[in-house]
Amino acid sequence: MREITPSIDFDKRLAGEDLAGSRAHVRMLASEGIVAKEDASAILLGLEQIEREIADGKFVFKRELEDIHLNIEARLTEIIGPAAGRLHTARSRNDQVVTDFRLWVRAACERADHGLLQLSRALLTQAELHAATIMPGYTHMQPAQPVTFGHHLMAYVEMFARDRGRFEDARKRLNESPLGAAALAGTSFPIDRDVTAMSLGFSRPMRNSMDAISARDFALEYLAACTISAVNLSRLAGELVQWSMPAFGFVKLSDAFTTGSSIMPQKRNPDAAELIRGKTGRVLGDFVSLATVVKGLVLTFGSDLQEDKERVFDAADTIEISLAAMAAMIADLTADPAKMRAAAEPGFTTATDLADWVVRVLKKPFREAHHIAGSIVKRAEEAGVTLDKLPLAEMQAIEPAITDGVFSVLSLDASVNSRMSLGGTAPARVKEQIRLWRERLK
Ligand code: ARG
Repeated sequence: MREITPSIDFDKRLAGEDLAGSRAHVRMLASEGIVAKEDASAILLGLEQIEREIADGKFVFKRELEDIHLNIEARLTEIIGPAAGRLHTARSRNDQVVTDFRLWVRAACERADHGLLQLSRALLTQAELHAATIMPGYTHMQPAQPVTFGHHLMAYVEMFARDRGRFEDARKRLNESPLGAAALAGTSFPIDRDVTAMSLGFSRPMRNSMDAISARDFALEYLAACTISAVNLSRLAGELVQWSMPAFGFVKLSDAFTTGSSIMPQKRNPDAAELIRGKTGRVLGDFVSLATVVKGLVLTFGSDLQEDKERVFDAADTIEISLAAMAAMIADLTADPAKMRAAAEPGFTTATDLADWVVRVLKKPFREAHHIAGSIVKRAEEAGVTLDKLPLAEMQAIEPAITDGVFSVLSLDASVNSRMSLGGTAPARVKEQIRLWRERLK
């Protein structure tokens, strides 16, 4: 029992929230006349001393006292004597722990949101530099159509904005107070749950005491938001790994974010990006793990629920370091526009522009135009030239109606500039998006 029961090794991270919860509770007890004012004052002074001891690293956490709640209460008794015992009036560790935990997860939502904001700003700054930098856009990892690097980066700004929305939603939904639900059924003392809820910054008390004790969907929702965010981050991490390969050379990560090899002196390994990508697994694991703990668990409290905290702490630590590392890595990288353009040149990435021209000017149906463009690509491939270097006569051999007006759409710049549809990659459009996000992320 001594080995399996304690949670203090990890729930000491709830100390700040536990102190806040206790303060709110004892103030309410005093103002409702449930405990004497003098006892409440003594308790508040004692809690203050404990806070200092914890901050100074002088507080002795004892495993035999099981968890943070009992550790603090025991120390309070040492400091102020038997009056400490009045703090737990009309409260149980069951509502206490989940109050602490909601406060902790609420702050974690805010930290994740901030991390995503910083990352988005870093992306925005690079996107501003490269709103018109041409690179190949890929589908199936095959060169598809030219795009701008700024446009590509802005795709992640959109993604991370949705991630922020998920944390914001989770925060909004979890922000109700379980305090006062007591063990599970409420209490016979005339407590005021509105008062404790408000003083802890909750929007309202939870309406059902049994739900208040049992619910962990708020933690699952936070973990789900972390998971989706980690998955999105892992895609950007994957791009960085690929873009920084010498075969691509699209970006150079700074020395601070690459490491050498113990044997190969030339290496610049993108470790941070790989680690961010790799850590996605543990965040998803945290979600699956807690969902598995809660699944089938009948109401209300069971010590199974003590297993909730480590998952959340681990996911929070992981997402926060990943976001910080990614933001710094993005801010620090140097893009190589010449390499990007060189990679977009081969691969006939303006073949769609050719087909579109045939539709627009020669009034052919798109399917037929697609076929014509395909034959021209084949010819250019045989001749070993890009589409804009293929002589007009060669094109006319395939479709006699083609005129030299076609060359106006075959260059990379023409292609990119023509993608003016809403959400398109034309630099003018990209700059528009950047301006909009600059404003939003102020
Ligand atoms: N250490 C427990 C936890 O982490 C606190 C709640 C304990 N309540 C109880 N009745 N055993 O969840």
